[in-house]
Amino acid sequence: MRLLSTTLAFAGLATFAAAHSGSASRRKTLGFGPVHPTAQLQQMNQWPIGLRIQNVQDPYEVARAFVVYLYMEQLGYENTFAIRSDSYTDKTTGVSHMYVRQLINGVEVVDGDININIKDGRVLSFGDSFYRGEAPTDFNASMDDTPGPHAEYCQILENELQTRLLASEQANGQVQLGSSFAVPPEHEAIAHLYHSNCESLGAQLVGPDAGAGTFFDPRHALLQFMVAATPKKEVAQDIADRYDEHIANMNSWFEHGLVGAVDVQMEVIDNVPDTVNPVKAKPVYIQLPDGDKTKLVHAWRYEVEMEDNWYEAVVSVQYPHRILSVVDWASDSPLAPSHSAPVATYNVFKWGINDPSEGNRSIAKENFDSLASPLGWHVIPVANDPLSANVRKTSTYSNYTTTFGNNVFAHENWEGQSSWLHNYRPDGGKGLEFDYTYDPKPTNRTDSLDEAKKYINATVTQLFYTTNLIHDLYYRYGFDEVSGNFQQHNFGRGGKENDAVIANAQDGSGFNNANFMTPPDGQNGRCRMYLWNTASPYRDGDLEAGIVIHELSHGLSTRLTGGPANSGCLGWGESGGMGEGWGDFLATTIRSNSTYSDFPMGAWAANQVGGIRNFPYSLNETINPSTYKTLDKGGYWGVHAIGEVWAQILWVVGQRLIAKHGFVEDLFPPAPLADGSVPPGDFYRPVEFDAFGAPKPLVPKHGNSLIVQLVLNGMKLQSCRPSFFDARDAIIQADEILTGGENYCDLWLAFAEKGLGQDAKVEGRTPWGGGIRTNGFTVPKTCTPDAPEPVPSPEPTPGEPDDDDDDDEPDWPWARQ
Ligand SMILES: *[C@@H]1O[C@H](CO)[C@@H](O)[C@H](O)[C@H]1NC(C)=O
Ligand SMILES: *[C@@H]1O[C@H](CO)[C@@H](O)[C@H](O)[C@H]1NC(C)=O
Ligand SMILES: *[C@@H]1O[C@H](CO)[C@@H](O)[C@H](O)[C@H]1NC(C)=O
Ligand SMILES: *[C@@H]1O[C@H](CO)[C@@H](O)[C@H](O)[C@H]1NC(C)=O
Ligand SMILES: *[C@@H]1O[C@H](CO)[C@@H](O)[C@H](O)[C@H]1NC(C)=O
Ligand SMILES: *[C@@H]1O[C@H](CO)[C@@H](O)[C@H](O)[C@H]1NC(C)=O
Ligand SMILES: *[C@@H]1O[C@H](CO)[C@@H](O)[C@H](O)[C@H]1NC(C)=O
Repeated sequence: MRLLSTTLAFAGLATFAAAHSGSASRRKTLGFGPVHPTAQLQQMNQWPIGLRIQNVQDPYEVARAFVVYLYMEQLGYENTFAIRSDSYTDKTTGVSHMYVRQLINGVEVVDGDININIKDGRVLSFGDSFYRGEAPTDFNASMDDTPGPHAEYCQILENELQTRLLASEQANGQVQLGSSFAVPPEHEAIAHLYHSNCESLGAQLVGPDAGAGTFFDPRHALLQFMVAATPKKEVAQDIADRYDEHIANMNSWFEHGLVGAVDVQMEVIDNVPDTVNPVKAKPVYIQLPDGDKTKLVHAWRYEVEMEDNWYEAVVSVQYPHRILSVVDWASDSPLAPSHSAPVATYNVFKWGINDPSEGNRSIAKENFDSLASPLGWHVIPVANDPLSANVRKTSTYSNYTTTFGNNVFAHENWEGQSSWLHNYRPDGGKGLEFDYTYDPKPTNRTDSLDEAKKYINATVTQLFYTTNLIHDLYYRYGFDEVSGNFQQHNFGRGGKENDAVIANAQDGSGFNNANFMTPPDGQNGRCRMYLWNTASPYRDGDLEAGIVIHELSHGLSTRLTGGPANSGCLGWGESGGMGEGWGDFLATTIRSNSTYSDFPMGAWAANQVGGIRNFPYSLNETINPSTYKTLDKGGYWGVHAIGEVWAQILWVVGQRLIAKHGFVEDLFPPAPLADGSVPPGDFYRPVEFDAFGAPKPLVPKHGNSLIVQLVLNGMKLQSCRPSFFDARDAIIQADEILTGGENYCDLWLAFAEKGLGQDAKVEGRTPWGGGIRTNGFTVPKTCTPDAPEPVPSPEPTPGEPDDDDDDDEPDWPWARQ
């Protein structure tokens, strides 16, 4: 076994973080994957057209028939797909979100996904990234024979970097054509970050001379991945020095389990360096670009849980050093900008007070929502209680007096380790009174950590409070059990249980940041909040609601996009960027009130008026000039910058809806009545009934509540790995489903304001979200001023069969309604 034993250089995010915070953060992150030239992942058939299969109502049958039609009839595959068990029907809209995974020769295609949105037997829209070529005849026919996808990635990356940095300097008038210039330090940092990630991945060569035996042994490719993934130089060096010993130590056994919600046999591997749990491994196919098509290659898929990352990685079977795709289920908040000043640094800030600069603390009640949290915030059924060993088994419930409950486990984590169960939590006593001092004093650098530790009771209380309210709020907008929310017990309402959010306050693994790890439904999400050493006394991210909400929204968008069991849909590029943007947008929407103002992100924690993004969110183009085209600029291909553009677009779209529909001060829908029904009050539009006398879904009446609803429903409708276009179309379709398309033109006009009109386009996409973008300002013809009023969409009649034949076979082609 040969492994390059060059001195391993790992800079990556760790260096970037250190340079920017004055304090080492250990976390580094990787995320990329092949570009599918079959670019259009999402093919929306505009409501109300819909495709209806005669005689079939059951969404499983409709989905099955639809995929059979798309693939079996055309391509003649057998046994080529599985309808995933995390598919569900949305209670509010009645839309069934069906998720389909491609199988070939019984092997899962990890990026072969179809999501189908079905209502009343009709297919409303679908996204599709199935492999379309011939099925490989045997294992060898799908060997990866392309010369180094890694070399290609790094090359594309380097070229792109050069071109873009230069272009942006020229655009800014900072450099004359032909003159030499110094790359500004922030650009250099970006270049450095991406280059070193790319190179560290490619450098560890095992190669084809590794021997055929390694093809069927997942340990080699895994160890190769660990070399690239570990942020610890000494671990990487140790793997290089004692390679064979490590391989020999890695025991494995087989377990039955779910991968991407498909039931499979997995190999479980123990003693993998720098992991905190055994790694799950499984042979899969992945698609690599092949001209204008894709080809299938054999690969290993791993789930690797580390202290600071939780990776879903796909590595070539034939070339174990080639990492083909990586998604980190952990998402960072942005790093703080550099700080040059000497860096020394259920009594709560109530809902709506974004941070300590906006108001003082006061006593807030455990204001749980009886639909979202039927047992309140401190009670867990014993069967779902991870601490139940300590509880008398005769009781049904564990009633906690600490910050421990069905939705959230909140506690300190000064050690920065991954253990959490027995970490310190404030105890409110019998009366559940969490009233603690928060009175940090300015202090010098050496003792500012101790100063922060003095208010740990207050800060854990705040984190618990904010996280529970977000659980309840998102629940009421549709992030419920079947769609993959985070709860220990699901009250028999479907979905996978035992996945409350583990919330670490004052986490010792970093500074000036925060992150969230989202594994698939049924495994706990983990939120880590950090102190910010940007001021004296230190500022505590737990106390800035916007940062907490941003993090929790990663859990929301990751579980809703592509289905609860697929955490790999928002890994990089535009989709990864939107994963950041939704969090900023929701945090900003939650803090706003009826008097419009602009908002920066993270301004208090970062101790910086303009916040941690390039621009505050604003309707004023001078203050925030971002448009779709902005993604082409140097510095705009990290997920946070992409997310900033997306959040700004959504901010404008939301404001246009507010101008039309007004503003509701409290985003929480009315409390349910004793019988569980929800009174529309002034929050929802008056109840309407469909042709059969059944009440239609309740739709929020005001602009700010409506945009939150549309954004959440859009997440459910869009495809895995969505582009900006897909997400825009999904929001417009959500409006069609909920209001019959009442805001069709308002939405198009608002997206077009920011360059995301019908004629927007992107050419030459790259694995990291690059490409050349063109702003589009065109809206559908019906939406231009001199065009006739748009015709309201007719209400589709739920599928009465066109029974011209009683054949069980569907009629082909699809009946268009
Ligand atoms: C498949 O490839 C392996 C490794 O190159 C080789 O040992 C084996 O003989 C091949 N099998 C077939 C059927 O060609
Ligand atoms: C908090 O209360 C103090 C004293 O009551 C007051 O001076 C201060 O302005 C308040 N802070 C905010 C942000 O409202
Ligand atoms: C514990 O919580 C359950 C559920 O809310 C409640 O029925 C029960 O009375 C509580 N027990 C105690 C001792 O408070
Ligand atoms: C730092 O704080 C400690 C404790 O308050 C104090 O003794 C020391 O003089 C301070 N040092 C500086 C440089 O202010
Ligand atoms: C937290 O609160 C408990 C009482 O519930 C108290 O004993 C403890 O000293 C407090 N911790 C700190 C650091 O103030
Ligand atoms: C609305 O929000 C702005 C910005 O945070 C704030 O200045 C203003 O006082 C708020 N208005 C009300 C009525 O709370
Ligand atoms: C937009 O912001 C700029 C810069 O702050 C300001 O000069 C201008 O008046 C603003 N425009 C509007 C319409 O408020």
